[in-house]
Amino acid sequence: MASWSTYLQAIFYIALLFFVIPIRIKGPDQAESQFQEYLKRFNKTYDDPSVYQNRLHAFKQSLQTIETLNSKKRNGSALYGLTKFSDLLPEEFFQTYLQSNLSQKTHSNEPKRHHHKRATVPNKVDWREKNAVTRIYNQGSCGACWAYSVIETVESMNAIKTNKSEELSVQEIIDCAGNNKGCNGGDICTLLSWIKATNFTIQRHADYGGKCGRGSAGVHVRDFMCEGLVGSEDVMLRLLADNGPLAVAINAQTWQNYIGGVIEYHCDGDPSKLNHAVQIVGYDLTASIPHYIVRNTWGVDFGDGGFLYIAVDKNMCGIANEVSALRVL
Ligand SMILES: *[C@@H]1O[C@H](CO)[C@@H](O)[C@H](O)[C@H]1NC(C)=O
Ligand SMILES: *[C@@H]1O[C@H](CO)[C@@H](O)[C@H](O)[C@H]1NC(C)=O
Ligand SMILES: *[C@@H]1O[C@H](CO)[C@@H](O)[C@H](O)[C@H]1NC(C)=O
Ligand SMILES: *[C@@H]1O[C@H](CO)[C@@H](O)[C@H](O)[C@H]1NC(C)=O
Ligand SMILES: *[C@@H]1O[C@H](CO)[C@@H](O)[C@H](O)[C@H]1NC(C)=O
Repeated sequence: MASWSTYLQAIFYIALLFFVIPIRIKGPDQAESQFQEYLKRFNKTYDDPSVYQNRLHAFKQSLQTIETLNSKKRNGSALYGLTKFSDLLPEEFFQTYLQSNLSQKTHSNEPKRHHHKRATVPNKVDWREKNAVTRIYNQGSCGACWAYSVIETVESMNAIKTNKSEELSVQEIIDCAGNNKGCNGGDICTLLSWIKATNFTIQRHADYGGKCGRGSAGVHVRDFMCEGLVGSEDVMLRLLADNGPLAVAINAQTWQNYIGGVIEYHCDGDPSKLNHAVQIVGYDLTASIPHYIVRNTWGVDFGDGGFLYIAVDKNMCGIANEVSALRVL
């Protein structure tokens, strides 16, 4: 009897050995075949074997990050998955698409708030529906989010004023603006102070000839505000409803693998972690998770056709740390 049970035990352990080892080996294989599907889907090729291994390594790290970020998911909240950035390490993503020192600055230059004092705001505001939002831009690896978010907001305010949506020159701002570092970074409030102080003529995209050549025709900023509104997001809603879209600084580190839904967790609002700038084009308080509608500059193939959704009233991703509204002449 004893020898039979020993024999069965031995068979059991040998079977286990065959069973367990293939599973252990299967893990990495599976990630690699997922990586190859990913490369096909996003039209990427890495011919150099060492580059391939580095991207595979970063991809595996993204798979783990995605699992962690999705763990708190509830109905309507953000979903994370594979994006065109998923084969970058978080620090590579930061270096290529974000800014390391977008410190909080507040410069106020607001002669008078022209919006009405009102107890309530509309439940829903979407400036895209009013033809006040131009197409989604792609900043590529040029760190000029600060210029894009401000110019997009000037475009919107100009469209609201003239009822004509026109693209203005972001390149002119990158080439000309003082106290900013072009594609190496800048700040929305510093830019607005400079535009206002110099009464700068922001040319139409089609008119700008390059090399900071000045034009006589274009849009001028009449006044602006730049404020920290943490704890006062009702003011942001009111500005969105009564004035128009806003330019804001933001922490976009966890957006690397964002594919849709409302961001309500996992996005640090600490003012020292601001690393990107975007435009807010509206909000929806009727949704299961009330949120802002955020327009990004990473192309239409990022997020929801280039847009993201961020929960209101939580300073989520630091969205209320540095808020700019403006009016045009
Ligand atoms: C894939 O990339 C190649 C080379 O950059 C390009 O010519 C082709 O149009 C791309 N295809 C798709 C579907 O994006
Ligand atoms: C960050 O920016 C602030 C203000 O522009 C500047 O004073 C500070 O030296 C910068 N820090 C680093 C590490 O570049
Ligand atoms: C422009 O005018 C059209 C038609 O009168 C209107 O539907 C639209 O909302 C207006 N857009 C803006 C930005 O004022
Ligand atoms: C700014 O320039 C515009 C257009 O040339 C002009 O109408 C306006 O008066 C100027 N504003 C100031 C403050 O100089
Ligand atoms: C999820 O939210 C949508 C939209 O608010 C709602 O229609 C749906 O019933 C919700 N589903 C669950 C399972 O709660």
